[in-house]
Amino acid sequence: MKKLFVKTYGCQMNAYDSAKMADLLAPLGYAATDVPEGADLVILNTCHIREKAAEKVYSELGRLKQLKRENSGMLIAVAGCVAQAEGAEIVARQPAVDLVVGPQSYHRLPEMIARTARQSGAALETDFPALEKFDSIPAPSSSGVSAFLTVQEGCDKFCTFCVVPYTRGSEQSRPPQAILAEARQLADKGAREIVLLGQNVNAYDGDGWSLAKLCEAIAEIEGVARIRYTTSHPRDMGDDLILAHRDNPKLMPYLHLPVQSGSDAVLEAMNRQHKADDYRRLVDRIRQQRPDIAMTSDFIVGFPGESDADFDATVRLVRDIGYATAFSFKYSKRPGTPASTLRKQIPEDVKAARLDVLQKLLLAQQYAFDDSQIGRIVPVLFEKPARDAGQIMGRTPYLQPVHVTARGELVGQVADVRVTRRTANSLHGVLA
Ligand code: 5AD
Ligand code: SF4
Repeated sequence: MKKLFVKTYGCQMNAYDSAKMADLLAPLGYAATDVPEGADLVILNTCHIREKAAEKVYSELGRLKQLKRENSGMLIAVAGCVAQAEGAEIVARQPAVDLVVGPQSYHRLPEMIARTARQSGAALETDFPALEKFDSIPAPSSSGVSAFLTVQEGCDKFCTFCVVPYTRGSEQSRPPQAILAEARQLADKGAREIVLLGQNVNAYDGDGWSLAKLCEAIAEIEGVARIRYTTSHPRDMGDDLILAHRDNPKLMPYLHLPVQSGSDAVLEAMNRQHKADDYRRLVDRIRQQRPDIAMTSDFIVGFPGESDADFDATVRLVRDIGYATAFSFKYSKRPGTPASTLRKQIPEDVKAARLDVLQKLLLAQQYAFDDSQIGRIVPVLFEKPARDAGQIMGRTPYLQPVHVTARGELVGQVADVRVTRRTANSLHGVLA
């Protein structure tokens, strides 16, 4: 047996891809290990979305280089979005790297590994063979209670701050039958929740099927109790998807719908293709159909040219919508993106101050939302044993983690829980 160590950075799709790479390498005799020491192959599945994420990779590579000194047979692979964006530059900066493989070409890993044995120098693959990799990936070998499933990849929106159209390529949807087959395999392996992934998942169009239609078909699969999807763009929120939140009982009342900013000037400069009020009206329409839906978002503060008044507009939007939770980031200049060349970049201290204000507000909203569950009885899908002995951890329909004292047999099942209290990061309750 050879040992494979995979370290994943970034988004849920990277987590999905990491699992697929492990499945793909299993027939070559690679078994997963959770430390890099003694590994025959180390894969860093990287993220390029912000500078910090990309730089982490190089410090990790520095550490791995030391390990390789003691273990000269070790292969080091850089996969994911940094691999796609930087290609051969990675090897120039860190010659200990043996393989560089982009997110659309990792099905070629077995052949690339063979190539490193034959040739000196690194093997590189950063093509965009659309969706080809899905044909090479074996059926999932195992599944957690909640399972990711990529249905769509890439992005044609070209927000001016974002690397995704360059690292993941143009929008591509997998055919519905391939997705349904994978969903059935996951359900067979114990998945009770399927999380459909795509960079623009609600733009899904597979042989004329919309995301709503796909969710309807997945809801028919035996064993599937819950369906979620992420990430969506406000422009692609179709009427049938909004109605699915009313009509499909397995589709969870939770929607990650990034808005990024509440200022029309900033939205325009970001090329988001909608105004702040369009977003407010959209959320109103969604809530008309599904009043209890939990809204979440991503925000960027300190986009080039963002004034105090622009930032205030973001704060107003957050107050108007009321989020269950949200992610917020300081704008990070990304090479090759249009916004990186804009004059009027915002000083770091201004970005930090704005981020602090926004995060305090979002956290207060999150606590208020979590507190609103206290005293209620909610269906919880149990996922795994909790850290405290005798407890198991599950999630509400609104994705909140809940800790309950209960037998381990409930893992994989939905049971009613009365929520009793909240701690910083989770809810606690008792079986109802
Ligand atoms: N700087 C900061 N945040 C960014 N995001 C994407 N690109 C950048 C960038 N250049 C954020 C957006 C996106 C999330 C995944 O990451 O908010 O929705
Ligand atoms: Fe990071 Fe985006 Fe690539 Fe995911 S798709 S790993 S978030 S750059």
